[in-house]
Amino acid sequence: MKVTVVGAGAVGASCAEYIAIKDFAAEVVLIDIKEGFAEGKAMDLMQTASLNSFDTKITGTTGDYSKTAGSDVAVITSGIPRKPGMTREELISTNAGIVKSVAESLIKESPSVIIIVVSNPMDTMTYLTHKATGLPKHRVIGMGGALDSARFKYRLAEAVNAPISDIDGMVIGGHSDTGMIPLTRLATRNSVPVSEFVSEDRLEEVKQATKVGGATLTKLLGTSAWYAPGAAVSAMVQAIGNDSKKMFPCSCMLNGEYGLDDICIGVPAVIGAKGIESIVEIELSDAEKQDLSTSAEAVRKTNSLL
Ligand code: 2OP
Repeated sequence: MKVTVVGAGAVGASCAEYIAIKDFAAEVVLIDIKEGFAEGKAMDLMQTASLNSFDTKITGTTGDYSKTAGSDVAVITSGIPRKPGMTREELISTNAGIVKSVAESLIKESPSVIIIVVSNPMDTMTYLTHKATGLPKHRVIGMGGALDSARFKYRLAEAVNAPISDIDGMVIGGHSDTGMIPLTRLATRNSVPVSEFVSEDRLEEVKQATKVGGATLTKLLGTSAWYAPGAAVSAMVQAIGNDSKKMFPCSCMLNGEYGLDDICIGVPAVIGAKGIESIVEIELSDAEKQDLSTSAEAVRKTNSLL
């Protein structure tokens, strides 16, 4: 499989690195507008190949989309990241133009590509990519829920005092500080509800810490995070490459599912060779339904700024 990663910054480079280390893709093309930057990152990563035992070929290009031709999957990480104190929504005016032109350039070279959008505000950038490309809904996927769920599991493991491999949990809703919905009701430790191990108050703390997971890291790092976002994208690309039909919560264009229409927001979906193979409609509690509806309103408000 050939994968293009647009943007050779920290998230793009981590994503390329994790894809290569997992060794399932034949080729990764990194593309960036900064002269020589993608070429440099690609060369540096290729010099880890003998050490990390991968055969994936990573190349870099400064803005030459012809090098991305025939990509099976393209990941859009371009645009500016948030700085401490900023919300993801505040990035819209800069990132919308960039994401639109990147998406258009990608499909010219790779008409059958599946696009994964990472740039923020991610749900709105996913919606924009749908509208700008006209691609069928299964071929544009927003990466948010896989990352937010990984952060949720980290916080749950901390609270339960268990290894992360014991923990399962999922975050749906918008990829924003207020819009995320960590589903504590369904979270488990080896099939046992986490509520058997920790109090409702502690679970509420876990929920809040998960929702501001990105902001917490932005404050610590001075810019937004990259390892977990890169790992989350690489897991989704791998599910497409291996046609593994793995279920991830991700930003999908909804047409009636969960009572929502013409909006991209995080819901569980099965990911395989076609991209989004199906959207999984789980039974939500009344409170979760209300949270999803509030989250969707906030995403629509950001979409209206496009
Ligand atoms: C994050 O939450 C980049 O939005 C991404 O870290």
